[in-house]
Amino acid sequence: MAEIRIRNTNERISGEENVRAFLDNQEVLYEHWEASKLPAELHNKFVLSDEEKQTILSTYDEEIRELAARRGYQIWDVISLSDATPNIEDLLKKFEQIHTHTEDEIRGIVSGRGIFIIKGDEETGYFDVELEAGDVISVPENRAHFFTLMDNREIIAVRLFIEKDGWIATNIEDPTFTK
Ligand SMILES: [Fe+2]
Repeated sequence: MAEIRIRNTNERISGEENVRAFLDNQEVLYEHWEASKLPAELHNKFVLSDEEKQTILSTYDEEIRELAARRGYQIWDVISLSDATPNIEDLLKKFEQIHTHTEDEIRGIVSGRGIFIIKGDEETGYFDVELEAGDVISVPENRAHFFTLMDNREIIAVRLFIEKDGWIATNIEDPTFTK
């Protein structure tokens, strides 16, 4: 279950109903996949072969196709990040830059954890969404945000795209960002 931290006030929001209500209010799609569907041999495995990635896509095929049909995604893949990922430090530096893109950014977390930092409405400002396995989130198009790993630095997620070009990031400097 995701948890929220509002950066300006350090307020935390937890519990499914509260998290869902908060994210609804911020127009952030938040749904669930059954985390326990992940085959046992892939638990705590963050370096994946192509075959294992395919197993993950097959495991969540129904959920992926339902989302794709509802929201127009055409392609999907599996991304895995951990300390074993080549150039992980450089990648994280690149990730930790506030940006926007013209497509929404949707992720189904299959294993591990991660954080989206998202710009909320004017009153709320930036907030963190701490994600764990089973959380599905979509950052709306053109909304300032970035993604990073949590302390365990391990995540596997399914990504869905309408078209790959829609995901080209435009970096922005935002003076209202709260570190
Ligand atoms: Fe993004």
